[in-house]
Amino acid sequence: MYAAMGALGLAPAKGTPPVPVVGGTAAPSPYVPPQRSDFALRGGRPASVLVLGAGVAGLACAYELGKAGYDCTVLEARDRVGGRSLTLRGGDTVTELPVQGAAGSASPGDTQRVTFGEGTYFNAGPARIAQWMVTLDYCRELGVPLEVFVNSNSAAYVLTAGMKAPVRVRTARADAYGYISELLAKAADAGALDARLTGADKERLLDFLSAFGEIGPSHDYTGGERRGYRVNPGIGQGSELGAPPSLTEVLSQGLGRVLTMDAGYEQAMPMFQPVGGMDAIVHALARQVGADRIRTGTRVTKITNTPDGVEVAVEGGAPLRAEYCVAALPPHLLARIPGNLGADVQAALATPVPLAAGKLGLEYGRRWWEIEDRVYGGATETDLDVGHIWYPSHGFHGPRGLVVGYYNTGEDADSYSEMTHARRLRRAIAQGRRVHGAKYGADLLASASVSWRRQPHIEGAWVRWPSMGGLRLLQRPAGRVYFAGDWLTHLIAWQAGAFESARKVVTELHHRVLKEA
Ligand code: PHE
Repeated sequence: MYAAMGALGLAPAKGTPPVPVVGGTAAPSPYVPPQRSDFALRGGRPASVLVLGAGVAGLACAYELGKAGYDCTVLEARDRVGGRSLTLRGGDTVTELPVQGAAGSASPGDTQRVTFGEGTYFNAGPARIAQWMVTLDYCRELGVPLEVFVNSNSAAYVLTAGMKAPVRVRTARADAYGYISELLAKAADAGALDARLTGADKERLLDFLSAFGEIGPSHDYTGGERRGYRVNPGIGQGSELGAPPSLTEVLSQGLGRVLTMDAGYEQAMPMFQPVGGMDAIVHALARQVGADRIRTGTRVTKITNTPDGVEVAVEGGAPLRAEYCVAALPPHLLARIPGNLGADVQAALATPVPLAAGKLGLEYGRRWWEIEDRVYGGATETDLDVGHIWYPSHGFHGPRGLVVGYYNTGEDADSYSEMTHARRLRRAIAQGRRVHGAKYGADLLASASVSWRRQPHIEGAWVRWPSMGGLRLLQRPAGRVYFAGDWLTHLIAWQAGAFESARKVVTELHHRVLKEA
């Protein structure tokens, strides 16, 4: 009977049972979206909700609450939805705030007009989705088509301060694995590991190392085919790159970080991206929410809990009222908005430290990285100030393509942040030439860069919590004001964090509304 009622919309349909996942579990209790039938069964009615911020968290809240008929209005200070999920195309404008500490208003160099050609896009914010993250479930639910994001590529390069010239990832890996295997095998041979290894262990270790590092019976690493070829084999046998550099040289290359880029649990090869640009996700959400419910260009100036609702003041307009509010803005911006949320909440909002990240998109009229370097997607890892250089994972062999000329964080991002776009471009091209030579500066059609610290109404790439105290407080509502965003999760700097946070807020808000019915 219950199932029949569910089919008639009179009872909650059964939630999807949790799927056991090997090596990591699904959420402790599976998410069940609010639905209209919840009210049919329990009484009450969907409440009105003001959602502050049309980033991933805000849009996801409005989308999920909308499933049960909540009356949501989303207020967005920027003139576009998406927040940090920003995809730039030809015709877009990027305006950056004046450099912090610099006197005066924005200089002319702070506005870029993007002139990318038809079909070219630049994911200036999120660009890769991990297989285990809830973001993929939203892509499935919203019908956002996906393609592989090539997250690492043995054919791409590495360049570190300890190297005279770039080498292919495969070469660096062969040498690092080779020498480490040699050292360990010889230590085992000399009996140095006997306290730790049984005779059988030792044999198996040596077996492993001979494959891992391709060391011969003498346990010397002498290079080999894994390093790559100067002339690739074909009809002829080709000519190998030859003998590796010395152990000392390889150690001085400092390859630890660059060779483990995709070892972090959030990373993998492959990852995924929406076809045509990351903003396909936020646009799909916004379509579901409805354009009439989203007010862009609307800046919030005050948030006040009243006895039976929330009042939100906006610049240049009458204050808005609703029964509940979800504040899905970055914490450092919320901390500056006056209201009556309480001193402890205000202090907690001021706790997370905004961090820097920057990206530069370089549109070329010739896909030289494919044609000449035979690199199809993936990344060159460096310890230069450009950080990572990304090659496009789509549009292979097309007439043009966009390379991410830098994706950097921390001090590197801060130093690029302070430059005008023209200076960022010059510097990044000079750095890229160290990897790719003169062609890096040729055939360039257009470029655009984003410093996340200088993005209006965002002012940071993501945050770091110096102490976790305030996190727990802000995971709870302050009166009728809930908080949502990646910054309230252990998935900071991922859209998945924003989605997980939205689901938690939506679930709690909905249960409260049902309970108060
Ligand atoms: N999500 C961002 C990225 O993939 C930032 C990040 C990197 C977050 C690595 C955690 C780990 O680049």
